Amino acid sequence: MILICLTISMTLAALLSTLIVLVVPLIICTIILLFVLRIKYSSKRDKKNISIGFFHPYCTAGGGGERVLWCAIKSLQDSYPDIKYYVYTGDKESDEQIFDKVTSTFDIQLNRENCKFIRLTKRKWVEASTYPRFTLIGQSLGSMILGWEALNLFNPTIFCDTMGYAFTFPIFSLIGGSIVSCYVHYPTISSDMISKVELNSESFNNDKSISSNKYLTFGKLIYYKIFAKIYYLVGSFSKLVMVNGTWTGNHIKNIWKKEYGKNLFKLYPPVDVENRKELPLDWMNRKNMILSIAQFRPEKNHSLQLETLAHLLQKYPIHKNQLRTKLVLVGGVRDQDDRDRVSALEELAKKLKIEDHVEFKISIPANQLNQLLGEASVGIHTMWNEHFGIGVVELMAAGVVPVGNNSGGPKEDIIKNEETGFLATTKEEYAEYIHEILAYREKYRDMQRKARESTERFSESNFNSQWLMLIKPLIDKCNSEKSKLD
Ligand SMILES: *[C@@H]1O[C@H](CO)[C@@H](O)[C@H](O)[C@H]1NC(C)=O
Ligand SMILES: *[C@@H]1O[C@H](CO)[C@@H](O)[C@H](O)[C@H]1NC(C)=O
Ligand SMILES: *[C@@H]1O[C@H](CO)[C@@H](O)[C@H](O)[C@H]1NC(C)=O
Ligand SMILES: *[C@@H]1O[C@H](CO)[C@@H](O)[C@H](O)[C@H]1NC(C)=O
Repeated sequence: MILICLTISMTLAALLSTLIVLVVPLIICTIILLFVLRIKYSSKRDKKNISIGFFHPYCTAGGGGERVLWCAIKSLQDSYPDIKYYVYTGDKESDEQIFDKVTSTFDIQLNRENCKFIRLTKRKWVEASTYPRFTLIGQSLGSMILGWEALNLFNPTIFCDTMGYAFTFPIFSLIGGSIVSCYVHYPTISSDMISKVELNSESFNNDKSISSNKYLTFGKLIYYKIFAKIYYLVGSFSKLVMVNGTWTGNHIKNIWKKEYGKNLFKLYPPVDVENRKELPLDWMNRKNMILSIAQFRPEKNHSLQLETLAHLLQKYPIHKNQLRTKLVLVGGVRDQDDRDRVSALEELAKKLKIEDHVEFKISIPANQLNQLLGEASVGIHTMWNEHFGIGVVELMAAGVVPVGNNSGGPKEDIIKNEETGFLATTKEEYAEYIHEILAYREKYRDMQRKARESTERFSESNFNSQWLMLIKPLIDKCNSEKSKLD
């Protein structure tokens, strides 16, 4: 017995010592290598001029994330014309084509003289399709390859990642010596994902064969937890973290252990509220119309909107004949599933005998939507735990009083209950609020006005001034280092 113990402990000791013998030199070598690389790369940098490099490999995508990027560059160009701006991108279009697209999509005119594109060729390394399994770690290591390519092409004074490639931070910070900052739309891993696996439930990247197998689930949990630790580590290289809303902010705060007001700031992305604000607030122009703006996706819970209307018509018959209240559902459909969903909703409306009070408007052009926003009185939003809710902001800017689900972005970021709209949970509550607003509309003048004013927080001008305020300390720091050199 003793002999066995002795052998085991001796084997363990031997293993441990080999490990130390192997690991310690490895660590020392890595440190030396980093040191040498750091000296090499910072000597290559132009120390006289401040430059800001934006890491955005898909810069022509034309979505909300790109609006953030171009607004950020444009406002910097206006305030700091002497700084040089660079965008790392994997897109193939020519510089002129990209600038033209920014102008046509977002109506933003960039200064083409001091904004340059650094062309990346290794973008396939960050594409999800490259990694059928272990996508998280695959894409993250892939982004390091892409980041390494980027650093070799250009080493900026300030590095700003605007697409969530956090694994590029240590490369630019440790080797390049750049000051790293980032704007996060979505955390790469969230505590939600971890607890979902813990609950062994199915979700989008958690396919059936895995959740049915206990050991694999356990393995996945460990994988997620280790990944979260590494994600924390790379996140620590960012000196300034901006998040696009409360939901993202809370996850980043937990996982990266950042502190609001110190190195973590909420900066809402710019929403085009200006055009909506031109619609008249006057109730005279507004119909007894309930407007819903949401893609026909299951989580938007359109069926609850129909049930709410049925309840409203049944409880307050005045909406049937006198007010002739209508529910208009505006939304896009992406595929056959969405189209089937619309058919099912039409069936449900018939079954509830409310089809005369319901209208579906599928993928209508922007000017038609604008007209509806000018005619509607109440807006309805029913998704539970939506991360933000850009549709609700549009309603409010247009002067439509919103009734949103009491959760997620509408609750945390957008609606102040009973001040700039209402938050509801059950169909009965939704129906009460809608009835209130339609039946006593004059009482809600103030709410309408306040709702519109509150959307100023999401405007482009507000984004610009906040962004400049947040980035200024980093630029000041570079300037003071530059003047030390002179
Ligand atoms: C860097 O700044 C110096 C003067 O400060 C200027 O002469 C030079 O052209 C700048 N270099 C670049 C690449 O803009
Ligand atoms: C932040 O970005 C995520 C991912 O694109 C999006 O789902 C969310 O709605 C955004 N939040 C805000 C406040 O725009
Ligand atoms: C829609 O809302 C109802 C009532 O809250 C809920 O029971 C149902 O699960 C929701 N459906 C979806 C798809 O979220
Ligand atoms: C609205 O939010 C509450 C939680 O605040 C939830 O229980 C309810 O099911 C949600 N309703 C819908 C339609 O999703």
